Amino acid sequence: MACLFGKSAEGDDEEAVLKLPNGKEHRIKVLKPTSGEDLFLDIRDLHRLTGYFTFDPGFTCTGSCLSAITFIDGPKGICLYRGYPVPELVEHAQALEVAHLLLVGEKATKEEYKSFKREIQKSMLVHEKVKAMFANFTINAHPMAIMVAVTGALSCIFSELDPFDEAHRWLACTRLIAKVPVLACMAYKTSIGQPLMYPRADLSYAENFLYMMFATPMEEYKVNPVAAKAINAFMILHMDHEQNASTSTVRIAGSSQANPYACIAAGVASLWGPAHGGANEAVITMLEQIGTRENVGKFIADVKAKKEGVRLMGFGHRVYKNYDPRAKVMKGLVAQVLKELGVDDPLLGVAQELEKAALSDDYFVQRKLYPNVDYYSGIMLRAIGIPTSMFTVMFAMSRTVGWVSQWNEMVAEGQMRIGRPRQLYVGPQERTWKPEDMSEEKSPSQTVVNFAPRRSSSFSKRVPDVSTR
Ligand code: ACO
Repeated sequence: MACLFGKSAEGDDEEAVLKLPNGKEHRIKVLKPTSGEDLFLDIRDLHRLTGYFTFDPGFTCTGSCLSAITFIDGPKGICLYRGYPVPELVEHAQALEVAHLLLVGEKATKEEYKSFKREIQKSMLVHEKVKAMFANFTINAHPMAIMVAVTGALSCIFSELDPFDEAHRWLACTRLIAKVPVLACMAYKTSIGQPLMYPRADLSYAENFLYMMFATPMEEYKVNPVAAKAINAFMILHMDHEQNASTSTVRIAGSSQANPYACIAAGVASLWGPAHGGANEAVITMLEQIGTRENVGKFIADVKAKKEGVRLMGFGHRVYKNYDPRAKVMKGLVAQVLKELGVDDPLLGVAQELEKAALSDDYFVQRKLYPNVDYYSGIMLRAIGIPTSMFTVMFAMSRTVGWVSQWNEMVAEGQMRIGRPRQLYVGPQERTWKPEDMSEEKSPSQTVVNFAPRRSSSFSKRVPDVSTR
């Protein structure tokens, strides 16, 4: 099979010609984005016209949608929200201004911002029935486990929702942006057995988060402005990142016209894993295990030897083949926040030594592995007093803005089709089921349960044992 690029017969549209094993040719239109060098082969009619599918596990080279929200240039290390560089937004904008930008598409005017802020504040209270749910989670339950349940549970309260009605969609999006931080803090308070705190109308989005996390009914709580600035930056840095695993999960869930609150719960679940948003928690565990700068060399050797379960967490990215611009901002923020708060965290030294060692090692250089946004974020959050188990929850709370913006964009486009990939089947060929008498009861000691051996590393690649026909 060969694929050639060229100009189409009709004019300027570039197209590729796919030569199929049966000698036939299939012409494929080449699609170009408004920014960047990426080119896409439009294969939407490939199967209809040729009988062929494409095989791309992990969607490493498959575009699943059109989107005008976030642009990433992986090789150059660029990330833009609606055209604005994310580092500029972190420097100059409030989290809710960026939320408006992502959701609506444009920078809010002063009046629009005031009204958006008011709308979010008004929606922050969660239904007392949802609040009551928190009483039923066990103490020590992971806050992410609670988040999966309670974001989904919002769909019990807001079940009468038509995704194709613009006003209904707006309500769902603003309610989620408003309520998820409140749920996040309630999840934390539940996990430590403290009373849940209600948000306050006089505080900003970032300040409210700190207030609901750390205030108690016993005494007045004053929000530290350094911490509030850091949380504002964290929120903006994590708000969207185009078609990552959790966002794609939200889109796929939404493509069946499911309730948006349930779709966000699906996104939270997808984010939880250590290969995605769970990496910020895993980085701290890794740094604690390394312990001191002296152990960095041995750890790097273990990573390179691909020792079972050992990976340099917070490094590498599917799209960035350069320094993640968000990580660059985060690295600067960590130093600033630790200095301003007067915190001396020995893990920062270990992280810096580890980064230096990796960036000068051929293994990482050849594979273009650089720190991602999760590498330094945990050290900043620790300095503010946020417990490790809340790191991924904070990611989820910030990413909710991106999830709802992407869900809204998908539905508003008016061309939504259910997400339904194909598979390359490698199971048994058709065979006949021979009925057997299964009624005889065996004693427990005779029962043999045959579990397949479990692989402890979730990262190993499985090469499918299939040959081309
Ligand atoms: N440590 C060591 N080796 C790595 C790492 C890493 N962190 N990341 C990638 N590699 C290696 C792979 O083993 C592979 O090597 P090989 O060709 O010898 O097999 C090569 O680099 C390519 O890596 P892939 O696994 O193919 O990369 P993929 O795009 O599938 O995975 C991912 C991206 C999941 C982010 C990966 O880099 C990783 O596991 N990183 C650590 C976890 C992490 O930090 N996740 C957060 C991602 S950012 C986010 O979600 C906010």
